[in-house]
Amino acid sequence: QKGGFKHFMLKEILEEPDVIVEALRGRIKNGEIEIPELDFDKNYFKNINQVYFVACGTAYHAGLVGKYLVEKYLNIPAQAEVASEFRYRNPVIDERTLVFVVSQSGETADTLAALRLAKEKKAKTIGIVNVVGSSVAREVDKVVYIHAGPEIAVASTKAYVAQVEVITLSILHLAKIIDKLNEANEKLFVEEFQKLEGFAREILENKEEIASFVSTTKNIEETFFIGRNLDYALSLEGALKLKEIAYVHAEGYPAGELKHGPLALITPNSLVIAIDTFTPLSDKTISNIKEVKARGGKVLAIAKKDNTRIKEVADSVFYIPNVLDDLTPIITVIPLQLFAYYMADARGLDIDKPRNLAKSVTVE
Ligand code: M6R
Repeated sequence: QKGGFKHFMLKEILEEPDVIVEALRGRIKNGEIEIPELDFDKNYFKNINQVYFVACGTAYHAGLVGKYLVEKYLNIPAQAEVASEFRYRNPVIDERTLVFVVSQSGETADTLAALRLAKEKKAKTIGIVNVVGSSVAREVDKVVYIHAGPEIAVASTKAYVAQVEVITLSILHLAKIIDKLNEANEKLFVEEFQKLEGFAREILENKEEIASFVSTTKNIEETFFIGRNLDYALSLEGALKLKEIAYVHAEGYPAGELKHGPLALITPNSLVIAIDTFTPLSDKTISNIKEVKARGGKVLAIAKKDNTRIKEVADSVFYIPNVLDDLTPIITVIPLQLFAYYMADARGLDIDKPRNLAKSVTVE
């Protein structure tokens, strides 16, 4: 069943290049982005004045990427919120609100309750779901499947990749409907989406680099993941994976917030994973890395190949291909998942079934 792999988690990470292709299938036609499931017209959208992403865990982190992209490409106020918070307050939403409900299983209790609340308040709903025919898929107005195939390991990996890809495609599709994506931009995205499979393969070919890095870090007890903008969303996901399967306390933090508190924790024993793939803010992130280095902390950076400055500041760098900025989460997450995987393996843990956790959280 594991196809010869030591763990389902590794098998599922190695499937990611194929998952990237499957999630794209039928969604780029004749050089155009098109999500046939979201067959809205301009009028439907005329009154939408806010967008929400509600989800739990990794799916929430995928939604956070969506929030940044909605603001950028639809120019509509957007929020991402964990479903267990959303459902127990009074979210001010109505029929002018569009709610994306993101769930691999489609059965997560809090996510389902948040969806029902959104519908009660007459919001429009779109599901980004993996399991076909699941509760979320059945109850949303429109469902867009991510086609990631069965995910067995408790830690969600390939589903995140496909969720972010499908959310990005959906937002670009909606931007087209409301005339906010010009032809040149669409062409660029189409070209760049098609490079992702190869980029993912390239990263996986270099996975031993991450494994060898882990040989020096396997005994650490805490770490910070830092980044800005989409890299911040990624830092939350990198930290969650490490906590969940390697049992290492990890915090995802906006790089710019370090000096507002956590910098006090940085000592020569600290490890910081700095994600610096979002080019417009790279200079800022590099300044934050310098702040960590000045306190003696050790920095592993994840950066694009064309980032020439990073090696001067970080102790080690894992390079990823030069992916388009807005698509970085889809492939930058791979080294973060591998880091958590190799850490857990080096510590001899039960990777596919981490303690206290279930694959599908169907009770509150
Ligand atoms: O099935 P869902 O996507 O709704 O699950 C949401 C979370 O329970 C899930 O992503 C969880 O955080 C993962 N175990 C993280 O790896």
